Amino acid sequence: MLEKILLSGTSWFLAADPRNAGESREQWQAPDWFLEHEQSLVPVVVPSSWQVCKGLERYEGICWYFTRISRTIFERLLPTTNYAELHFNGVNYLARIWLNGIEIGSHEGGFTPFSFHLPQQALKQVLEQGPGDMILAARVDNTRRHDQVPEFSTDWFQWGGIYRDVFIDVKPGSRVARCAIMPHLSYSSKGRVSGASINASVLASAGLKVTWKIKGLDDIEIATGNAAMPMMEYSETGPQLLPLVLDISIPKPRLWSPGTPALYELLLFDDEGDLLYSSRFGLREIKACGPDILLNGTKILLKGASLHEEKFPWGREYPPADRREDIAAMKALGFNFLRTAHYSHDESLIETCDELGMLVGEEIPVYWNVEFRNPKTIRLAARMMRDLIHRDFNHPSVIWWSAGNEVPVSRRDCVQFMTTIMKLAKRLDPSRFSVFVSKAFLYDPARRWSDLTLVNAYFGWYLLTERLFSFVADVVHGTTMRKPFIISEFGANAMLGFGRREAVDVKSSEWKQASIVSHAIKTFNSKSYLSGWVEWIYRDFKSHMRLGKYEQGYNRKGLVDEHGRKKLLALWMPRLVNDRLKYNGKSRILAGILLAKLAWFPLAFAGIVMDVISPLVMKHMNTGYYVYEPRSS
Ligand code: GCU
Repeated sequence: MLEKILLSGTSWFLAADPRNAGESREQWQAPDWFLEHEQSLVPVVVPSSWQVCKGLERYEGICWYFTRISRTIFERLLPTTNYAELHFNGVNYLARIWLNGIEIGSHEGGFTPFSFHLPQQALKQVLEQGPGDMILAARVDNTRRHDQVPEFSTDWFQWGGIYRDVFIDVKPGSRVARCAIMPHLSYSSKGRVSGASINASVLASAGLKVTWKIKGLDDIEIATGNAAMPMMEYSETGPQLLPLVLDISIPKPRLWSPGTPALYELLLFDDEGDLLYSSRFGLREIKACGPDILLNGTKILLKGASLHEEKFPWGREYPPADRREDIAAMKALGFNFLRTAHYSHDESLIETCDELGMLVGEEIPVYWNVEFRNPKTIRLAARMMRDLIHRDFNHPSVIWWSAGNEVPVSRRDCVQFMTTIMKLAKRLDPSRFSVFVSKAFLYDPARRWSDLTLVNAYFGWYLLTERLFSFVADVVHGTTMRKPFIISEFGANAMLGFGRREAVDVKSSEWKQASIVSHAIKTFNSKSYLSGWVEWIYRDFKSHMRLGKYEQGYNRKGLVDEHGRKKLLALWMPRLVNDRLKYNGKSRILAGILLAKLAWFPLAFAGIVMDVISPLVMKHMNTGYYVYEPRSS
């Protein structure tokens, strides 16, 4: 029988450990230490970011979390053949976990889930430590370090803590560990979808007999069948997990798309009819065809915005209902695409995108610079990509896995690092785009390994004038003719309330932001070769780097401020999202276009030459380390 014992809630305590005295000198992980200090600890809710606690608003370092778990929960897990795991959906950044003073495990990485198996002997051991409740102690460290992912400098705030749900996950001893559902569509000669099926790759205990059922939106069963996991001769380490692929055709398929987000559910039962596993999925295919992106065989333009995972007055743990509001609001602006900058968000956001119909590009936080030559860093990034793909594989809204953002592709070690991660993502999931986001316009040797050309450009804000978008897009297009090309970031700062009514042609006014971004969007919409654009960013967000007069600790390129209040650009957006440049015969615009076209050819030619040369150059480079693939969960 499946059971999720939720440990999140109000019965947690927090203690900052700025002297790092807890683990070694004072043994905070010992149950006696907690029992002695319980009254003096700060009561907190989990999930939460500790910077929402008074006095810790800007604390970066180590904090300890403690909670009591009823002894009966653990006694109930004994002695059965159940398979129990202690599961964390997200802790930023380093986590070490003890139960009654017995170390259960540790984890590095702030944005993907992790769990620790609680075998019988561990359960017995923690129960023997003493009577009464079990004490869970968690040491969390959000200090930025150069060998981490991300490394030291990020344009976002280092929220720290157990900021996503914690639970004990209980499954039968003979269990289903994973099930990756890959949809397949078949097309008629006219390119219309004529049928659909799924490949469900099940990883389950040897010899397990399962009955599978597929339910439609209305919860009506539409298909069922039986399957048996292959047997395996006995092995010392107990029942093994083996793969089995279920190939199931779906009658009268209802496709998933932003306009029609039809969802199905796959359920697996054991031979007593107990539920072993369930997952929603959607029937959709995303592919590149030359410069076009095809969703279910039809060309689609991605138009949307990025989003950081935070909302005032919370930190990263803002409620699922508010995440739903975000997606509904972004759809109301006319968007069909969301980029989760620059890391994976809580899975509840992806579930909402599945339900409401929002395409999603997800990313691991290889941001600007990491230690590209450090094997530890490469393995860490690879594990983050693997954990992200494992978590979100079945979500139809997700269409790309990004290996990182604005990395220095002029460096050979960076190119090898990014190539390694992109190849790993492609190997783990050939059904989605494996990409990275670049800020290089012309020469980008890593671009050839990305399924899409994603380029960030801030003309009008960091660079000269927004009037250059047309020319630069043409030039970059000259180097990427063979694949879909998307402007993955553009935008401008605006302080809500400054320069909203009058046309204040001053940077950081709302009018200036709206003017820059609207010209950019009209330009992009006028370029038939572009497969889309992603505005930076939906909501203002906290950042260590943003301390200017019109920032005050926030990056204010949002369409809305940190409270969700709309700026002028958000009011313009519903009309702007499909608007295009109107050539009203103004000579200077025409002259500019003609000049751009004339200048384009030699530059585009140079770009193509570079694009041709770079693989020759790259051929002599080791294009990617072989990275040890972390053990599957
Ligand atoms: C960069 C980067 C973002 C950053 C943005 C900005 O392109 O990708 O993380 O916040 O520009 O400068 O606002």
